[in-house]
Amino acid sequence: MRTQVAIIGGGPSGLLLSQLLNRAGIATVVLERRSRDYVLSRIRAGILETGTVDLLREAGAGARMDVEGIPHDGCLLADNGEMFRIDFDAACGRKVMVYGQTEVTQDLYDAQDAIGATIFNEATDVALHDVDSDAPHVTFRHGGADHRLDCDVIAGCDGFHGISRQSIPAALRQEFERIYPFGWLGILSRTPPVTDELIYARSDRGFALASLRNPMLSRYYVQVPLTDRVEDWSDEAFWTEFRARLPAEVAARLVTGPSIEKSIAPLRSFVSEPMRWGRLFLCGDAAHIVPPTGAKGLNLAVSDVHYLCEALIQRYRTGSEAGLDGYSARALARVWQAMRFSWSMTTMMHSFPEHGGFDRRMQQTELALLQRSEAARRLMAENYTGMPF
Ligand code: FAD
Ligand code: DHB
Repeated sequence: MRTQVAIIGGGPSGLLLSQLLNRAGIATVVLERRSRDYVLSRIRAGILETGTVDLLREAGAGARMDVEGIPHDGCLLADNGEMFRIDFDAACGRKVMVYGQTEVTQDLYDAQDAIGATIFNEATDVALHDVDSDAPHVTFRHGGADHRLDCDVIAGCDGFHGISRQSIPAALRQEFERIYPFGWLGILSRTPPVTDELIYARSDRGFALASLRNPMLSRYYVQVPLTDRVEDWSDEAFWTEFRARLPAEVAARLVTGPSIEKSIAPLRSFVSEPMRWGRLFLCGDAAHIVPPTGAKGLNLAVSDVHYLCEALIQRYRTGSEAGLDGYSARALARVWQAMRFSWSMTTMMHSFPEHGGFDRRMQQTELALLQRSEAARRLMAENYTGMPF
């Protein structure tokens, strides 16, 4: 089998890259380890930056998002019950869209089906070969048989635990990491959201986030120690803790119900440099992870895809490799901006076991600065709604 671009991973970055390249007349094959149902059952991100929204439209995968997504032009920040609003629109003239990653992935699968793209779900034992030559290839098992896929370029879109990054010799990679001493316990419940806009709530009991998917679907999170397991948390225990971390007037109108999904995600900042080795180019979580506090993970995957797609279109239309040569540096410049923002939001809003009085005063001062200073609000709004690609 032969294609132009072999894409490892059929999550949001792999599917979006495949969709954009196919529409530009570039052939792709997507190799995804899991079944389509499994990929579509993962509940993850919920906030799309302006650039992400625009690129999904450009990919021909934005129609349902434009009907069902909810534009938000602000969010609320709370500190031990005192709450204030950041108006993104007033601060920087941009908004975000509330639309779940599950829906984005479904729309991309549908768009890929509509153009007859080639996706192998349940492709196992994927391995990359001759990546540092002009003739790379990928081997995998599918439907009980071994396959070989020859290609010009390999896009590693296989997430943090994928094999693409691991295929780069360790001596050529530099990794930067911070592991936070807590995770987020998240639940999804068919209840009316407690708020129209997201509430990021810091409290002495720990952080909580009130988010939503639609008018009858709430997505809520609480900070938990890394040692906690999902089984430790009954729905009852979750609601009690979540309510206790919200401002009283918000907690008073919280509607509870059974959870339909409950999971714990550890928080980590991670970057692997460079994002290219030979004919392999990494996109999204394969190269970097952010803590979720800034809602950046999915959006960063999308900006990587945009840069790689531009570079590949240039390569196939003009023969110039300049875009591909510049890909890693261009993507990493934006990645580090989002790293900084996600780290600073995480530090400002969470309880850290090692924090003392000084750190607490710093958190209060950061939040006070956001309330007082238009410049501080603008900086936050620009980062939250997403720096232009
Ligand atoms: P993924 O979505 O990880 O997709 C990679 C794909 O590659 C997967 O489908 C995987 O099955 C496949 N794959 C892996 N290994 C192989 C292999 N060897 N061969 C073939 N295929 C392979 N971001 C936010 O902004 N907000 C959130 O609330 C949030 N919550 C999250 C919760 C969890 C539990 C996780 C893991 C992430 C969360 N994120 C969140 C981050 C966001 O979901 C990711 O940044 C986004 O999914 C990145 O997309 P991706 O396509 O790069 O990677
Ligand atoms: C959601 C997740 C986030 O990490 C975030 O910052 C905002 C919203 C969500 O799942 O809705």
